[in-house]
Amino acid sequence: MSVSRKIKAAMEGASWIRRMFEEGAELKARLGPERVFDFTLGNPDLEPPLRFKEALAEAVRDPSPGLHGYMFNAGFLNTREALAGHLSSMYRRDFGPQDLVLTSGAAGALNIILKALLDPGDEVIIFAPFFPDYPFYADNHGGLVRVVETDPTFQLDLEALQNALSPRTKAVLINSPNNPTGQVYPENSLGKMGELLQEHGNKVGRVVYLVADEPYSRILYDGLVLPNIFEVYPHTLLATSFSKDLSIPGERLGLCSQWLALPLSRALQGLATVGALRWKNLAPLGRPVCQDLANWVDRLRAQRAWLTARVAIPLPAKLVPSLAPCQAPQVVELRRPRLPILELHSAPQAPPLQ
Ligand SMILES: Cc1ncc(COP(=O)(O)O)c(C=O)c1O
Repeated sequence: MSVSRKIKAAMEGASWIRRMFEEGAELKARLGPERVFDFTLGNPDLEPPLRFKEALAEAVRDPSPGLHGYMFNAGFLNTREALAGHLSSMYRRDFGPQDLVLTSGAAGALNIILKALLDPGDEVIIFAPFFPDYPFYADNHGGLVRVVETDPTFQLDLEALQNALSPRTKAVLINSPNNPTGQVYPENSLGKMGELLQEHGNKVGRVVYLVADEPYSRILYDGLVLPNIFEVYPHTLLATSFSKDLSIPGERLGLCSQWLALPLSRALQGLATVGALRWKNLAPLGRPVCQDLANWVDRLRAQRAWLTARVAIPLPAKLVPSLAPCQAPQVVELRRPRLPILELHSAPQAPPLQ
């Protein structure tokens, strides 16, 4: 098949992650899967909570008519109601079902947001190192990414951001907690960024949107609290999912949301068919998903504490190591500084899983 030059170049550019994934598989085969923690692709290695599987089975057995048919672009009302309640408690704002659109994962949410925002040639600022799909998402909708370096600790460099803002800037895309660095951007830095975007927007006469990609928002360790992104800047759009905290990336359960009733929300709803896959249809799922979150994230914390007690390096906040049986590792090797594969040379004793 003769693929387009653009797709060919994109495939070549993206293949290094796959190569690292393959290197991880090769290490597992050589050293044993219980000794290699592979952080190359964002596939959680815990199974989803039992309650999620039960809810799934209930949803499949639900005899209500229409559950497998077309539905509103934004997704079924009762699913959105349940998720609006979840957003309201998380972001301390009064979200209603009209304020969110169900999507096919955070990736679907980001694509809908960028589709709603971008005209050809508009710029989207992203911060390095970044989730490698971002440039593809911007390109899907005619946008260009402008990459801004972070500071030596991978925190936002606001001066670099200021220098990168241009009359073509339509959006600034941030990801906190961050993949791959694990950094969480503090409130004061986000607040200053909000002021910067407001000033720049006033100067050039166009709104610069802040797109917050937060699929890791509930996976926080060491008492860290994620600043409320809706308090930082009024023109904020949220993309999130349950892929990571419920270990269900294959189910594609995500959403995008904005709190202020800007005209943009109608555009998001209109475009939501882009993300129309699977879970949008399963109305009963929303509530159990929300109920599960708290306990499940505690389990991830216990798992991380177990591993950090045994390795010599501080783990970034995001990393969620496996609870596969594994005893006191003696050597930890970081194969890549930014997308590590941890290789544990030792033998095994893990805490029991409940
Ligand atoms: C930073 C970031 N954003 C978005 C995504 C996509 O998430 P989802 O699987 O929910 O589409 C990922 C997945 O790894 C990610 O790491």
